[in-house]
Amino acid sequence: MKARSQFVCQQCGATYAKWVGQCNNCSAWNSLVEQIAEPELGKKSAIEKGKQSGKKLEYVKLKTVVPSDAKARLLTEFSDLNTVLGGGILMGSVALLAGQPGIGKSTLLMQISAEVAKKHDVLYISGEESAGQVKLRAERLGANSDRLSFAASTSGNDIAKTIESGEFDLVIVDSIQTLAMDEISSAPGTVSQVTNCGNLIIRAAKATDTAVIIVGHVTKEGTLAGPKVLEHLVDVVLNFEGDRYGGFKTVRAIKNRFGSTNEVAIFEMGEGGLKEVQNPSAALLAERTNTDGSIILATLEGNRPILVEIQALATQSNFGYPKRTASGFDINRLNLLIAVIERRTKLKLSDKDIFINVVGGLKLNDSAADLAVCMAIASAVAGRKLGEEYVVFGEVGLGGEIRSAFRADQRIAEAKKLGFLHAIGPSTVHDKFVIPVKDLRETLIKYVK
Ligand code: TYD
Ligand code: MG
Repeated sequence: MKARSQFVCQQCGATYAKWVGQCNNCSAWNSLVEQIAEPELGKKSAIEKGKQSGKKLEYVKLKTVVPSDAKARLLTEFSDLNTVLGGGILMGSVALLAGQPGIGKSTLLMQISAEVAKKHDVLYISGEESAGQVKLRAERLGANSDRLSFAASTSGNDIAKTIESGEFDLVIVDSIQTLAMDEISSAPGTVSQVTNCGNLIIRAAKATDTAVIIVGHVTKEGTLAGPKVLEHLVDVVLNFEGDRYGGFKTVRAIKNRFGSTNEVAIFEMGEGGLKEVQNPSAALLAERTNTDGSIILATLEGNRPILVEIQALATQSNFGYPKRTASGFDINRLNLLIAVIERRTKLKLSDKDIFINVVGGLKLNDSAADLAVCMAIASAVAGRKLGEEYVVFGEVGLGGEIRSAFRADQRIAEAKKLGFLHAIGPSTVHDKFVIPVKDLRETLIKYVK
């Protein structure tokens, strides 16, 4: 028999038997989510009578508690990924691996499963692929442990029951969007299914100290489809980003209850699955030809310094409205920098289409990329290139001033390591390697105009 479900407004908590577009109580639109009806909590009369059902909490002296960090961690074959996880996968933790379809989530998790299964019992559950399909991939990735099992299922209830059996140390659930619970009638992938299945799985994992990794697909726009709600429930959220076709892919923790969120692991997809890239700077610069519009930026991916090429292309606009496109760089930031260049220097960009590309599929999230982007644009427009021996970093303010960048020393060290002779950077950095610049206009005139 199906348990009764109800629709609850996420804004005000009003409940409805049927879905409606607007909550009658608080007038919020599209705020109703289907949930399993909880048994009525003894009605309010109990509270009025002063007879609440709660009891005094059992507490412990914090000093005597064993920190959850002291629990065993399952190590993957990827040392950087272990660091991202805070030292491996913690027993009893639930992680969400989020990424676009086709980026390599299933591949990564099969590789992790194969490695962990050498010493532990691992169950790979797929709601998307059959045993035969998964076997093909597993073979390609060299997974052949006796302790690696597979199950195909789309039932949240069954999966939670299986985890509760405690037979496995690590369970992979691929993916949350395919799961449904018996008690809820809405389609798989909806907020109510994702939340309730997620909760069920998390409860089972905590009860048996099983490590669980759940896959979540994200939409093109980069938001978790449906399972945004899941981010609050799980212990770790890993973001898998990058180009679907070639290029580097990065895995970083955007939430981690057991470690820092500053680390990043960089991968490359090859014939034998994903491989960690040990020296990303060298790989990124290997194919570089120094043309105009190309600038080497000393940036940071998490805690790690990386040198990456920024390319700009400027062409005459054919229509009145100039086009601005960026790949790997925030488009709003690009528009802002173009405005700063126009206003603070004499460079005219209003009749130019401008394209920015960050080579290697990386997505920059570093304000110190500003100066490199500005110089790349100026270099492309002027047709003058910057010398081979320079790297660039620094933030550009609205007044055209060059502002300081954090962790300058790490950026400098990486540039030195790869044989660069100078950095053009903010004047706040005191290092002979850095040629200090204060103003965007002067910098552009001196180096690329
Ligand atoms: P997949 O892991 O299935 O992506 P997701 O689960 O995130 O949707 O596969 C990603 C792509 O990687 C797929 O197009 C095939 C490719 N691939 C390789 O290039 N080499 C390999 O060894 C494997 C297993 C996959
Ligand atoms: Mg997949």
